[in-house]
Amino acid sequence: MDLTSLPGFRDFYPEQMALRDHVFTVWREVAGRYGFVEYDGPPLEPLDLYVRKSGEEIVGQLYRFTDQGGREVALRPEMTPSFARMVGARAGGMPKPIRWYSIPQLFRYERPQKGRLREHFQLNLDIVGEAGELSDAEIIAAAIDMLRAFGLSSEEFVARISDRELIGGLLAAHGVAPEAMGAAFAALDKLDRESPEWVCGRLEEAGVSERSARELLGIPELDLPALLGRVGDDPATLEAGERLRRVFDHLESFGLGAFVRFDPSLVRGLAYYTGTVFELWDRRGEFRAICGGGRYDRLLAAVGGPDLPALGFGMGDVVLSELLKARGLVPEQPAAIQDFVICVTDEQRPAALGVVHALRDRGRRVAYDFAGRSVGRQFKAANQVGAERTIVLGPDELSRGEAVVREMSTGEEKSVPLGSILSD
Ligand code: HAM
Repeated sequence: MDLTSLPGFRDFYPEQMALRDHVFTVWREVAGRYGFVEYDGPPLEPLDLYVRKSGEEIVGQLYRFTDQGGREVALRPEMTPSFARMVGARAGGMPKPIRWYSIPQLFRYERPQKGRLREHFQLNLDIVGEAGELSDAEIIAAAIDMLRAFGLSSEEFVARISDRELIGGLLAAHGVAPEAMGAAFAALDKLDRESPEWVCGRLEEAGVSERSARELLGIPELDLPALLGRVGDDPATLEAGERLRRVFDHLESFGLGAFVRFDPSLVRGLAYYTGTVFELWDRRGEFRAICGGGRYDRLLAAVGGPDLPALGFGMGDVVLSELLKARGLVPEQPAAIQDFVICVTDEQRPAALGVVHALRDRGRRVAYDFAGRSVGRQFKAANQVGAERTIVLGPDELSRGEAVVREMSTGEEKSVPLGSILSD
Protein backbone atom coordinates (compact mmCIF):
# COMPACT_ATOMS: atom_id res chain seq x y z
CA MET A 1 0.00 0.00 0.00
CA ASP A 2 1.25 3.50 -0.92
CA LEU A 3 1.70 5.54 2.28
CA THR A 4 2.06 8.97 0.65
CA SER A 5 -0.67 11.59 0.53
CA LEU A 6 -2.01 12.99 -2.76
CA PRO A 7 0.24 15.51 -4.55
CA GLY A 8 -0.35 19.00 -3.19
CA PHE A 9 -2.01 17.72 0.02
CA ARG A 10 -0.28 17.86 3.37
CA ASP A 11 -0.06 15.55 6.36
CA PHE A 12 0.16 17.59 9.52
CA TYR A 13 2.46 15.73 11.92
CA PRO A 14 2.64 17.27 15.42
CA GLU A 15 5.52 19.62 14.50
CA GLN A 16 3.64 20.94 11.44
CA MET A 17 0.47 21.11 13.47
CA ALA A 18 2.26 23.27 16.05
CA LEU A 19 3.17 25.83 13.37
CA ARG A 20 -0.36 25.74 11.93
CA ASP A 21 -1.73 26.31 15.41
CA HIS A 22 0.64 29.26 15.94
CA VAL A 23 -0.47 30.81 12.63
CA PHE A 24 -4.16 30.40 13.45
CA THR A 25 -3.68 31.75 17.00
CA VAL A 26 -1.99 34.94 15.76
CA TRP A 27 -4.60 35.38 13.01
CA ARG A 28 -7.44 35.06 15.53
CA GLU A 29 -5.77 37.40 18.00
CA VAL A 30 -5.26 40.19 15.45
CA ALA A 31 -8.74 39.70 13.92
CA GLY A 32 -10.11 40.17 17.44
CA ARG A 33 -8.17 43.43 17.87
CA TYR A 34 -9.94 44.78 14.80
CA GLY A 35 -13.36 43.69 16.08
CA PHE A 36 -13.93 40.82 13.63
CA VAL A 37 -16.03 37.77 14.64
CA GLU A 38 -15.52 34.24 13.28
CA TYR A 39 -17.86 32.30 10.96
CA ASP A 40 -17.58 29.23 8.72
CA GLY A 41 -19.47 27.77 5.77
CA PRO A 42 -19.69 24.41 3.99
CA PRO A 43 -16.57 23.02 2.26
CA LEU A 44 -18.75 21.75 -0.60
CA GLU A 45 -20.86 24.24 -2.57
CA PRO A 46 -22.99 24.29 -5.73
CA LEU A 47 -20.62 24.51 -8.71
CA ASP A 48 -22.57 27.46 -10.04
CA LEU A 49 -21.47 29.69 -7.15
CA TYR A 50 -17.93 29.76 -8.60
CA VAL A 51 -18.61 29.40 -12.31
CA ARG A 52 -20.43 32.70 -12.39
CA LYS A 53 -18.45 34.69 -9.85
CA SER A 54 -14.82 33.76 -9.43
CA GLY A 55 -13.34 34.13 -12.92
CA GLU A 56 -11.84 31.73 -15.41
CA GLU A 57 -8.57 30.97 -13.65
CA ILE A 58 -10.17 29.54 -10.51
CA VAL A 59 -12.94 27.76 -12.42
CA GLY A 60 -10.26 25.88 -14.36
CA GLN A 61 -8.82 24.67 -11.04
CA LEU A 62 -11.99 23.39 -9.41
CA TYR A 63 -12.35 20.01 -7.73
CA ARG A 64 -15.80 19.34 -9.16
CA PHE A 65 -18.08 16.36 -9.44
CA THR A 66 -21.70 15.27 -9.65
CA ASP A 67 -22.95 14.10 -6.25
CA GLN A 68 -25.17 11.05 -5.76
CA GLY A 69 -28.26 13.26 -5.97
CA GLY A 70 -27.18 14.50 -9.40
CA ARG A 71 -26.07 17.95 -8.18
CA GLU A 72 -23.07 19.67 -9.75
CA VAL A 73 -20.84 20.54 -6.79
CA ALA A 74 -17.32 21.82 -6.08
CA LEU A 75 -14.96 21.86 -3.11
CA ARG A 76 -14.57 25.51 -2.20
CA PRO A 77 -11.55 27.07 -3.97
CA GLU A 78 -12.06 30.39 -2.15
CA MET A 79 -14.32 31.72 0.60
CA THR A 80 -15.60 34.99 -0.87
CA PRO A 81 -18.62 33.60 -2.80
CA SER A 82 -19.80 31.58 0.27
CA PHE A 83 -19.23 34.65 2.44
CA ALA A 84 -21.25 36.83 0.04
CA ARG A 85 -24.09 34.30 0.07
CA MET A 86 -24.11 33.86 3.88
CA VAL A 87 -23.79 37.50 4.80
CA GLY A 88 -26.22 38.45 2.02
CA ALA A 89 -28.90 36.23 3.54
CA ARG A 90 -28.71 38.06 6.87
CA ALA A 91 -27.27 41.46 6.08
CA GLY A 92 -30.63 43.28 6.06
CA GLY A 93 -31.12 42.94 9.80
CA MET A 94 -27.52 43.46 10.90
CA PRO A 95 -25.86 46.68 12.03
CA LYS A 96 -23.25 47.86 9.51
CA PRO A 97 -20.42 47.62 8.94
CA ILE A 98 -20.33 43.85 9.35
CA ARG A 99 -16.86 42.50 10.22
CA TRP A 100 -16.47 38.75 9.87
CA TYR A 101 -13.48 36.45 9.55
CA SER A 102 -12.96 32.76 8.82
CA ILE A 103 -10.12 30.25 8.37
CA PRO A 104 -11.42 27.78 5.76
CA GLN A 105 -9.44 25.00 4.10
CA LEU A 106 -9.61 25.62 0.35
CA PHE A 107 -8.99 23.36 -2.65
CA ARG A 108 -7.57 24.30 -6.04
CA TYR A 109 -6.22 21.87 -8.63
CA GLU A 110 -3.02 23.84 -9.28
CA ARG A 111 0.41 22.55 -10.25
CA PRO A 112 2.01 21.93 -6.82
CA GLN A 113 5.09 24.14 -6.44
CA LYS A 114 6.79 26.37 -3.87
CA GLY A 115 4.00 28.33 -2.15
CA ARG A 116 1.23 26.64 -4.15
CA LEU A 117 -0.53 23.45 -3.08
CA ARG A 118 -3.85 21.82 -3.88
CA GLU A 119 -5.21 22.58 -0.43
CA HIS A 120 -4.43 25.46 1.88
CA PHE A 121 -5.91 27.26 4.84
CA GLN A 122 -6.79 30.87 4.17
CA LEU A 123 -7.63 33.59 6.64
CA ASN A 124 -10.48 35.65 5.19
CA LEU A 125 -11.24 39.04 6.72
CA ASP A 126 -14.12 40.97 5.17
CA ILE A 127 -16.17 44.11 5.83
CA VAL A 128 -19.69 44.59 4.44
CA GLY A 129 -21.76 47.76 4.27
CA GLU A 130 -19.10 50.44 4.05
CA ALA A 131 -18.23 52.28 0.83
CA GLY A 132 -15.88 54.94 2.25
CA GLU A 133 -12.14 54.60 1.73
CA LEU A 134 -11.41 54.53 5.46
CA SER A 135 -12.62 50.91 5.36
CA ASP A 136 -10.14 50.18 2.55
CA ALA A 137 -7.36 51.56 4.75
CA GLU A 138 -8.73 49.56 7.72
CA ILE A 139 -8.66 46.24 5.88
CA ILE A 140 -5.16 46.86 4.50
CA ALA A 141 -3.97 47.89 7.99
CA ALA A 142 -5.40 44.63 9.39
CA ALA A 143 -3.50 42.60 6.75
CA ILE A 144 -0.26 44.45 7.57
CA ASP A 145 -0.78 44.00 11.32
CA MET A 146 -1.26 40.27 10.80
CA LEU A 147 2.29 40.01 9.46
CA ARG A 148 3.68 42.44 12.05
CA ALA A 149 2.23 40.22 14.78
CA PHE A 150 4.39 37.34 13.47
CA GLY A 151 7.47 39.54 13.90
CA LEU A 152 7.84 40.70 10.26
CA SER A 153 8.93 44.32 9.74
CA SER A 154 8.58 46.84 6.89
CA GLU A 155 12.04 45.73 5.75
CA GLU A 156 10.65 42.26 5.16
CA PHE A 157 7.36 42.88 3.34
CA VAL A 158 5.33 45.47 1.47
CA ALA A 159 1.67 45.98 0.59
CA ARG A 160 1.33 46.71 -3.13
CA ILE A 161 -1.86 48.68 -3.65
CA SER A 162 -3.83 49.77 -6.70
CA ASP A 163 -7.40 50.44 -7.82
CA ARG A 164 -9.22 48.56 -10.58
CA GLU A 165 -11.40 51.51 -11.52
CA LEU A 166 -8.32 53.68 -11.93
CA ILE A 167 -6.49 51.10 -14.04
CA GLY A 168 -9.74 50.45 -15.94
CA GLY A 169 -9.84 54.18 -16.76
CA LEU A 170 -6.25 54.03 -17.97
CA LEU A 171 -7.02 51.00 -20.15
CA ALA A 172 -10.16 52.68 -21.52
CA ALA A 173 -8.04 55.73 -22.41
CA HIS A 174 -5.84 53.28 -24.38
CA GLY A 175 -8.76 51.89 -26.37
CA VAL A 176 -10.01 48.93 -24.27
CA ALA A 177 -13.80 48.56 -24.62
CA PRO A 178 -15.81 47.64 -21.46
CA GLU A 179 -16.46 44.09 -22.68
CA ALA A 180 -12.71 43.48 -23.18
CA MET A 181 -11.76 44.93 -19.78
CA GLY A 182 -11.64 41.53 -18.02
CA ALA A 183 -9.23 40.15 -20.63
CA ALA A 184 -7.04 43.27 -20.39
CA PHE A 185 -6.91 42.99 -16.57
CA ALA A 186 -5.98 39.30 -16.88
CA ALA A 187 -3.13 40.27 -19.26
CA LEU A 188 -1.78 42.93 -16.88
CA ASP A 189 -2.07 40.50 -13.95
CA LYS A 190 0.52 38.33 -15.73
CA LEU A 191 3.10 41.13 -16.25
CA ASP A 192 5.47 39.68 -13.64
CA ARG A 193 5.15 36.07 -14.84
CA GLU A 194 4.90 36.24 -18.66
CA SER A 195 7.08 37.81 -21.36
CA PRO A 196 6.37 41.39 -22.55
CA GLU A 197 5.45 39.94 -25.97
CA TRP A 198 2.87 37.64 -24.43
CA VAL A 199 1.27 40.51 -22.43
CA CYS A 200 1.31 42.81 -25.53
CA GLY A 201 -0.35 40.07 -27.57
CA ARG A 202 -3.18 39.68 -25.03
CA LEU A 203 -3.65 43.46 -24.79
CA GLU A 204 -3.86 43.74 -28.57
CA GLU A 205 -6.53 41.00 -28.54
CA ALA A 206 -8.40 43.18 -26.02
CA GLY A 207 -8.44 46.05 -28.54
CA VAL A 208 -5.28 47.96 -27.61
CA SER A 209 -3.09 49.21 -30.49
CA GLU A 210 0.46 47.86 -30.62
CA ARG A 211 1.87 51.28 -29.69
CA SER A 212 -0.46 51.65 -26.68
CA ALA A 213 0.25 48.09 -25.56
CA ARG A 214 4.02 48.86 -25.50
CA GLU A 215 3.25 52.00 -23.51
CA LEU A 216 1.18 49.99 -21.01
CA LEU A 217 4.15 47.72 -20.34
CA GLY A 218 5.74 50.72 -18.60
CA ILE A 219 2.87 50.85 -16.08
CA PRO A 220 4.81 49.43 -13.10
CA GLU A 221 7.17 52.43 -13.18
CA LEU A 222 4.42 55.07 -12.79
CA ASP A 223 3.66 56.83 -9.51
CA LEU A 224 0.12 57.99 -8.76
CA PRO A 225 0.43 61.60 -10.11
CA ALA A 226 2.15 60.35 -13.29
CA LEU A 227 -0.57 57.79 -13.84
CA LEU A 228 -3.33 60.34 -13.24
CA GLY A 229 -1.68 62.46 -15.94
CA ARG A 230 -2.37 59.67 -18.44
CA VAL A 231 -5.98 58.76 -17.73
CA GLY A 232 -7.61 61.69 -19.57
CA ASP A 233 -10.48 63.62 -17.97
CA ASP A 234 -13.01 60.92 -17.15
CA PRO A 235 -14.46 62.09 -13.78
CA ALA A 236 -15.02 58.57 -12.37
CA THR A 237 -11.38 57.62 -13.07
CA LEU A 238 -10.07 60.86 -11.57
CA GLU A 239 -12.24 60.27 -8.48
CA ALA A 240 -10.86 56.71 -8.21
CA GLY A 241 -7.37 58.25 -8.17
CA GLU A 242 -8.37 60.71 -5.45
CA ARG A 243 -9.93 57.89 -3.42
CA LEU A 244 -6.75 55.87 -3.64
CA ARG A 245 -4.71 58.87 -2.55
CA ARG A 246 -6.92 59.14 0.55
CA VAL A 247 -6.42 55.40 1.29
CA PHE A 248 -2.65 56.06 1.34
CA ASP A 249 -3.18 59.14 3.57
CA HIS A 250 -5.14 57.07 6.12
CA LEU A 251 -2.50 54.34 6.14
CA GLU A 252 0.12 57.02 6.75
CA SER A 253 -1.98 58.30 9.71
CA PHE A 254 -2.10 54.76 11.14
CA GLY A 255 1.70 54.93 11.14
CA LEU A 256 1.93 52.27 8.43
CA GLY A 257 3.37 54.41 5.60
CA ALA A 258 6.57 52.35 5.48
CA PHE A 259 4.59 49.20 4.64
CA VAL A 260 2.74 50.41 1.53
CA ARG A 261 3.49 51.19 -2.10
CA PHE A 262 1.35 52.21 -5.09
CA ASP A 263 1.70 49.55 -7.78
CA PRO A 264 -0.39 50.13 -10.90
CA SER A 265 0.60 46.75 -12.37
CA LEU A 266 -1.44 45.03 -9.67
CA VAL A 267 -4.97 44.17 -10.83
CA ARG A 268 -5.53 40.69 -9.23
CA GLY A 269 -6.82 37.62 -11.00
CA LEU A 270 -10.33 37.32 -9.56
CA ALA A 271 -13.23 38.69 -11.59
CA TYR A 272 -15.33 40.38 -8.89
CA TYR A 273 -13.06 43.21 -7.68
CA THR A 274 -14.40 46.70 -8.38
CA GLY A 275 -12.08 49.17 -6.61
CA THR A 276 -9.03 49.00 -4.34
CA VAL A 277 -6.93 45.87 -4.84
CA PHE A 278 -3.82 44.92 -2.86
CA GLU A 279 -1.33 42.15 -2.17
CA LEU A 280 1.39 41.63 0.43
CA TRP A 281 4.80 40.50 -0.86
CA ASP A 282 8.13 39.73 0.78
CA ARG A 283 10.56 42.45 -0.30
CA ARG A 284 13.32 40.04 -1.31
CA GLY A 285 11.00 38.55 -3.92
CA GLU A 286 11.69 34.97 -2.80
CA PHE A 287 8.08 33.99 -2.35
CA ARG A 288 4.72 34.36 -4.06
CA ALA A 289 1.99 36.68 -2.75
CA ILE A 290 1.39 36.22 0.98
CA CYS A 291 -2.05 37.77 0.86
CA GLY A 292 -4.44 39.35 -1.63
CA GLY A 293 -7.71 41.20 -1.53
CA GLY A 294 -9.74 44.21 -2.46
CA ARG A 295 -13.15 45.79 -2.83
CA TYR A 296 -15.99 43.88 -4.48
CA ASP A 297 -19.01 46.18 -4.30
CA ARG A 298 -21.26 44.23 -6.67
CA LEU A 299 -20.78 40.61 -5.57
CA LEU A 300 -23.44 40.46 -2.84
CA ALA A 301 -26.17 41.59 -5.24
CA ALA A 302 -24.80 39.25 -7.90
CA VAL A 303 -25.30 36.19 -5.66
CA GLY A 304 -28.88 37.29 -4.92
CA GLY A 305 -28.31 39.30 -1.76
CA PRO A 306 -28.77 42.99 -0.97
CA ASP A 307 -26.78 45.57 -2.94
CA LEU A 308 -24.10 46.29 -0.32
CA PRO A 309 -20.48 47.34 -0.75
CA ALA A 310 -17.89 44.87 0.54
CA LEU A 311 -14.15 44.37 0.75
CA GLY A 312 -11.65 42.01 2.30
CA PHE A 313 -8.61 39.82 1.83
CA GLY A 314 -7.39 36.24 1.91
CA MET A 315 -4.06 35.26 3.51
CA GLY A 316 -2.86 31.70 2.93
CA ASP A 317 -0.93 29.58 5.43
CA VAL A 318 1.48 28.08 2.88
CA VAL A 319 3.55 31.09 1.78
CA LEU A 320 3.31 32.63 5.24
CA SER A 321 4.67 29.49 6.94
CA GLU A 322 7.53 29.26 4.43
CA LEU A 323 8.39 32.90 5.04
CA LEU A 324 8.31 32.51 8.84
CA LYS A 325 10.63 29.50 8.59
CA ALA A 326 13.02 31.31 6.25
CA ARG A 327 13.23 34.33 8.59
CA GLY A 328 13.64 32.27 11.79
CA LEU A 329 10.27 33.42 13.14
CA VAL A 330 8.78 30.06 14.11
CA PRO A 331 8.53 30.10 17.91
CA GLU A 332 9.85 27.21 19.96
CA GLN A 333 7.14 24.92 21.19
CA PRO A 334 6.61 24.64 24.95
CA ALA A 335 7.36 21.13 26.28
CA ALA A 336 4.39 18.83 25.71
CA ILE A 337 4.92 17.37 29.19
CA GLN A 338 5.68 19.51 32.24
CA ASP A 339 5.57 16.90 35.01
CA PHE A 340 6.52 13.22 34.81
CA VAL A 341 5.37 11.32 37.89
CA ILE A 342 7.57 8.34 38.88
CA CYS A 343 6.74 5.48 41.29
CA VAL A 344 9.66 3.72 42.98
CA THR A 345 7.57 0.54 43.42
CA ASP A 346 4.08 -0.50 42.34
CA GLU A 347 2.85 0.23 45.84
CA GLN A 348 2.98 3.96 45.24
CA ARG A 349 0.81 3.69 42.12
CA PRO A 350 -2.55 4.64 43.75
CA ALA A 351 -0.95 7.71 45.37
CA ALA A 352 0.83 8.55 42.09
CA LEU A 353 -2.39 8.41 40.08
CA GLY A 354 -3.97 10.74 42.63
CA VAL A 355 -1.08 13.20 42.22
CA VAL A 356 -1.21 12.92 38.40
CA HIS A 357 -4.91 13.69 38.33
CA ALA A 358 -4.69 16.54 40.85
CA LEU A 359 -1.89 18.17 38.80
CA ARG A 360 -3.93 17.82 35.59
CA ASP A 361 -6.88 19.42 37.35
CA ARG A 362 -4.57 22.35 38.04
CA GLY A 363 -3.90 22.65 34.29
CA ARG A 364 -0.42 21.03 34.30
CA ARG A 365 0.60 18.76 31.38
CA VAL A 366 1.40 15.46 33.07
CA ALA A 367 2.56 11.95 32.02
CA TYR A 368 3.75 8.79 33.80
CA ASP A 369 4.91 5.30 32.93
CA PHE A 370 2.20 2.78 32.08
CA ALA A 371 4.36 -0.32 32.33
CA GLY A 372 5.70 -0.51 35.90
CA ARG A 373 9.32 -0.19 34.74
CA SER A 374 12.42 0.54 36.85
CA VAL A 375 13.04 4.03 38.23
CA GLY A 376 15.98 4.41 35.81
CA ARG A 377 13.75 3.55 32.84
CA GLN A 378 11.09 5.96 34.07
CA PHE A 379 13.69 8.78 34.23
CA LYS A 380 14.75 7.92 30.69
CA ALA A 381 11.12 8.10 29.55
CA ALA A 382 10.77 11.49 31.29
CA ASN A 383 13.83 12.72 29.38
CA GLN A 384 12.51 11.42 26.09
CA VAL A 385 9.27 13.35 26.36
CA GLY A 386 11.19 16.49 27.40
CA ALA A 387 9.53 16.74 30.83
CA GLU A 388 10.45 19.90 32.76
CA ARG A 389 10.47 18.13 36.11
CA THR A 390 10.00 14.67 37.61
CA ILE A 391 8.05 14.00 40.77
CA VAL A 392 9.33 10.79 42.42
CA LEU A 393 7.12 8.94 44.90
CA GLY A 394 9.06 6.45 47.04
CA PRO A 395 7.92 4.54 50.15
CA ASP A 396 9.91 6.69 52.64
CA GLU A 397 8.97 10.08 51.19
CA LEU A 398 5.35 9.04 50.81
CA SER A 399 5.12 7.95 54.46
CA ARG A 400 6.18 11.53 55.35
CA GLY A 401 3.66 13.01 52.82
CA GLU A 402 6.54 14.15 50.59
CA ALA A 403 7.94 13.58 47.08
CA VAL A 404 11.32 14.23 45.47
CA VAL A 405 11.11 16.87 42.76
CA ARG A 406 13.91 17.04 40.18
CA GLU A 407 14.28 19.99 37.80
CA MET A 408 15.36 18.21 34.62
CA SER A 409 17.33 21.14 33.12
CA THR A 410 19.58 21.56 36.19
CA GLY A 411 19.37 18.16 37.85
CA GLU A 412 18.58 19.93 41.13
CA GLU A 413 16.55 17.75 43.54
CA LYS A 414 14.66 18.43 46.71
CA SER A 415 12.08 16.76 48.95
CA VAL A 416 8.89 18.75 49.14
CA PRO A 417 5.52 18.22 50.83
CA LEU A 418 2.94 16.84 48.40
CA GLY A 419 0.58 19.59 49.47
CA SER A 420 2.94 22.25 48.14
CA ILE A 421 3.32 20.46 44.75
CA LEU A 422 -0.41 20.49 44.40
CA SER A 423 -0.82 24.12 45.37
CA ASP A 424 1.95 26.04 43.59
P1 HAM B 1 -6.37 34.78 -3.83
O1 HAM B 1 -5.39 35.82 -4.26
O2 HAM B 1 -6.79 33.78 -4.84
O3 HAM B 1 -7.63 35.55 -3.26
O4 HAM B 1 -5.77 34.02 -2.57
C1 HAM B 1 -5.35 34.73 -1.44
C2 HAM B 1 -4.08 34.11 -0.88
O5 HAM B 1 -4.30 32.73 -0.61
C3 HAM B 1 -2.88 34.13 -1.81
O6 HAM B 1 -2.18 35.35 -1.71
C4 HAM B 1 -2.05 32.96 -1.27
O7 HAM B 1 -1.35 33.32 -0.09
C5 HAM B 1 -3.13 31.98 -0.83
N1 HAM B 1 -3.35 30.95 -1.86
C6 HAM B 1 -4.18 30.99 -2.91
N2 HAM B 1 -4.11 29.85 -3.63
C7 HAM B 1 -3.21 29.05 -3.02
C8 HAM B 1 -2.69 27.73 -3.24
N3 HAM B 1 -3.08 26.99 -4.26
N4 HAM B 1 -1.76 27.25 -2.39
C9 HAM B 1 -1.35 27.97 -1.33
N5 HAM B 1 -1.80 29.21 -1.05
C10 HAM B 1 -2.72 29.75 -1.88
C11 HAM B 1 -8.80 34.96 -2.85
O8 HAM B 1 -8.94 33.79 -2.72
C12 HAM B 1 -9.88 35.96 -2.46
N6 HAM B 1 -11.14 35.22 -2.28
C13 HAM B 1 -9.46 36.72 -1.22
C14 HAM B 1 -10.46 37.73 -0.78
C15 HAM B 1 -11.20 37.69 0.37
N7 HAM B 1 -10.80 38.84 -1.43
C16 HAM B 1 -11.70 39.50 -0.74
N8 HAM B 1 -11.98 38.82 0.36
